[in-house]
Amino acid sequence: MRSFEFYTPTRVIFGRGAEEQAGAQAKALGCSRVLVLYGGHSAVKSGLLDRVVSGLERDGLACHALGGVQPNPRLSLVYEAIRQAIEFQADLILAIGGGSVIDTAKAVSIGAANPDLDVWKDVWLKKFVPEKILPVGVILTISAAGSETSDSAVLTNDETHEKRGLNTDRQRPKFALMNPELTFTLPRFQVTCGVVDIMMHTLDRYFNPPKDDGVANNVTDELAEGLLRTVIANGRVAARDSHDYQAMSELMWAGSLSHNNLTGLGGVKDFSVHQLGHELSAMFDVAHGASLSAVWDSWATCCLDTDPARFARLGEKVWGLNPEGKSERELGLEAIAATREYFRSLDMPVTLPELGIGVLTEEQLEELAWRCTFYGKRKVGAFRVLDRDDLLAIYRMANHT
Ligand code: NZQ
Ligand code: ZN
Repeated sequence: MRSFEFYTPTRVIFGRGAEEQAGAQAKALGCSRVLVLYGGHSAVKSGLLDRVVSGLERDGLACHALGGVQPNPRLSLVYEAIRQAIEFQADLILAIGGGSVIDTAKAVSIGAANPDLDVWKDVWLKKFVPEKILPVGVILTISAAGSETSDSAVLTNDETHEKRGLNTDRQRPKFALMNPELTFTLPRFQVTCGVVDIMMHTLDRYFNPPKDDGVANNVTDELAEGLLRTVIANGRVAARDSHDYQAMSELMWAGSLSHNNLTGLGGVKDFSVHQLGHELSAMFDVAHGASLSAVWDSWATCCLDTDPARFARLGEKVWGLNPEGKSERELGLEAIAATREYFRSLDMPVTLPELGIGVLTEEQLEELAWRCTFYGKRKVGAFRVLDRDDLLAIYRMANHT
């Protein structure tokens, strides 16, 4: 096995009624003033926000609630939330929502504890993580991003249209309250975006730089494949019925495990598909999961020859394809087709026009590829390292009707 480090400090409370533990968890951290962050209206409409705030107040905690976090969360709201957190003297940031609210909470937890720092210029762009950070707690309402246990947060600068992530163990939430029933109200599109994102967090780890030294991380690979099979099967059910507790709970737990690094231990993260997708979200404000399925097929086709055996293994172990009489490349191609058809069966886009952004011009494709290299400052990925021309070729391949 290859060496690795694994750190998952988040206390997970999973199951019906988990959100009722918010007050007890806050008090266990020694907190008494909670900034509650939420999104557009789902938490208001379902009554969850009211229930949580009154529960916290009953437990003797002071609360200040701030809503309005949008998908692909904006920096401008982060600044406003930092201002309000400081004014309220918050000592805990509680996110009620999904990746967008949680990532906002993570940024606020840094900004509110360090008023002298500009969270974008001094922290996000410089990758500088200060010592002092407020604790973050989560009540999860959508299974997708995995931010409830991940070390990552992704923000969009609404002035420059740049979408950038920050990774640090320090911003992993202190607790995550996960009640699958809270996801029953999700629209089908958000359920299926979540399924894609959960799969992609494992796939972006599964495709490791090929090595021929005979060293393998079999537990990691088997966990990854088991998770993918489980998500594929339960994703089908959840897309039909978001009130199926069994399916929604499997997705919820898979979402956390897929992005806390468990399914990639000992490997090198690739995450090219995420980088390609982030530029699409930054430029066209498309949903994260949709941005990933729209480019995965083209990424995979461009990268198949880097390690056909890996794609063939995906076909056999995850999609149950019969390898008999086929070359690794042929089986790999079938695995790519099976993944594409699965996304299609969920009505997820598998090309750029299917994102609803039309067929892009050559100029737009070049702009996307250029931005994806951070204006010429980086190459992307590890499985196959992609330069600007490679990224452009992938965007071009995905740009068909
Ligand atoms: O705003 P409201 O009204 O709450 O509606 C939200 C939003 O429109 C809705 N929703 C959430 N829970 C609901 C619900 N609607 C009905 N019932 C519920 N129970 O779902 C929509 C999407 O919410 P969002 O939080 O944006 O979804 P998701 O969890 O997919 O997060 C996406 C964001 O996370 C980032 C993405 O880039 C994107 O910005 N990611 C964060 C990661 C991380 N921090 O580790 C990793 C990921 O790869 C990803 O990049
Ligand atoms: Zn993702």
